[in-house]
Amino acid sequence: MGAGERGRSTYGRWCLEHPDQATVVAVADTDPDRRAALAADHALPDSQAFGDWRELLARTAETDAVVIATPDREHAAPAIAALARGHDVILEKPIAPTQDEVRAVGEAAARSTGRVTVAHVLRYTPFFSAVKRALDEGLIGELVTIEHAERIGYWHFAHSFVRGNWRREADASPMILAKACHDLDLLRWLAGDRCTAVASFGGLHHFRPEQAPPRALDRCTDGSVRCPAAASCPFDAVRLYVERTSELTGWPVSVITSDPTPVGRLRALATGPYGRCVYRSDNDVADHQVVALEFANGVHATLTVNGLTADNTRQVHIHGTRGELRGRLDTGEIEVRRFLPGAGVTSAGPWDRDEYGRQAVRDDERIVLDAAPVPADGHGGGDAGLMADVVGRLRARRDGVAGADDVARTSLAVSIDSHVMAFAAEQSRHERRVVELSP
Ligand SMILES: NC(=O)c1ccc[n+]([C@@H]2O[C@H](COP(=O)([O-])OP(=O)(O)OC[C@H]3O[C@@H](n4cnc5c(N)ncnc54)[C@H](O)[C@@H]3O)[C@@H](O)[C@H]2O)c1
Repeated sequence: MGAGERGRSTYGRWCLEHPDQATVVAVADTDPDRRAALAADHALPDSQAFGDWRELLARTAETDAVVIATPDREHAAPAIAALARGHDVILEKPIAPTQDEVRAVGEAAARSTGRVTVAHVLRYTPFFSAVKRALDEGLIGELVTIEHAERIGYWHFAHSFVRGNWRREADASPMILAKACHDLDLLRWLAGDRCTAVASFGGLHHFRPEQAPPRALDRCTDGSVRCPAAASCPFDAVRLYVERTSELTGWPVSVITSDPTPVGRLRALATGPYGRCVYRSDNDVADHQVVALEFANGVHATLTVNGLTADNTRQVHIHGTRGELRGRLDTGEIEVRRFLPGAGVTSAGPWDRDEYGRQAVRDDERIVLDAAPVPADGHGGGDAGLMADVVGRLRARRDGVAGADDVARTSLAVSIDSHVMAFAAEQSRHERRVVELSP
């Protein structure tokens, strides 16, 4: 359900690339063009392409799983209905934008034989898998603190959270939920326990009318005239979507227009939302937020989410009683430094090579996984990892393999924890107080 960027270009594409693993049998999308495009990709007959997900559920009983990749506010109802029919569900994050709906999805799952996997794709990346393994193997001793940063990238933030679908809380979700439920989920996973208290600050600092350069127009271009502030504005849409991305036809260009020619792009910028001045859009979500978290096992963590960064990546710096670990998702580099001279590296095998097959440089106290590019698209390998995991478990269960689901990387209950942490961060930010979380 939902044949957009995620439904068609991520999950649909994975099925096309792995025809022996999964087959798409039906699609529902309210947009006839998107519905038709996905149906054409998978050679679906008209009878299997629906404008309403209710029809799809009513007429498509023989499915192993339903993918819900509709907009944020259209997640809970189809998820609950799919669970009522006993389907397994791959549910795009966020589970839902409100606590009540998140709870309702949890209750529907408890009543169903179907299982829900929330698309917290970063858990499936080789990078975060290696970070988690380092902690589990005790390479840095007992875990004490985690500093985690989500650096969204100035152009990515402007695309999605100023001009795009996630710019308004009432239409989508608070930024900390929409963008950083992944990071809160990672923190809960790495910390290894539930969160007990949250404090947060942040807000919308930059993308406001009073920050507009003098003489800036309401649009970067109207097709013939270019905004006089363009040369000094990093958010100039013509530079971002036409000049700097001329070779690109996929995301984010595919979001602004289905016609990627220069003329098609300029037409979209002259009339559509992605040509709007970033200072005069109707956005209201925070462009930066910091969160401090306490976990039941005594681990303390900070999360900084920032839309004003040069790069688009995640960084972690984790401290334990015997060492520290520093890593960066886009380069894949992980460095472990241990405190005790001559302690050596206790971990065997896996640290000789990392998940990308790169040789690790190591001495007595230090392991550095050689920096090298990791898959740039597909969330650092996370999208494919999630699909392989879910489909593998579905197939194992169908083949009668005992305990097929015991190896799941995460559960709905734990995904709900990350959402509760996000709602608490919002409450803390608005009420300016520490929010305690009960079990
Ligand atoms: N896991 C991740 O890392 C990740 C990354 C990006 C987006 N997302 C999430 O995935 C979801 C989809 O995002 P996207 O970028 O693909 O958006 P999109 O706008 O490209 O696609 C959404 C599709 O849903 C369709 N749709 C809208 N209402 C519908 C309804 N009631 N029934 C059926 N179809 C409907 C739209 O026509 C559109 O084709 C969002 O909730 C988003 O937050 C997750």
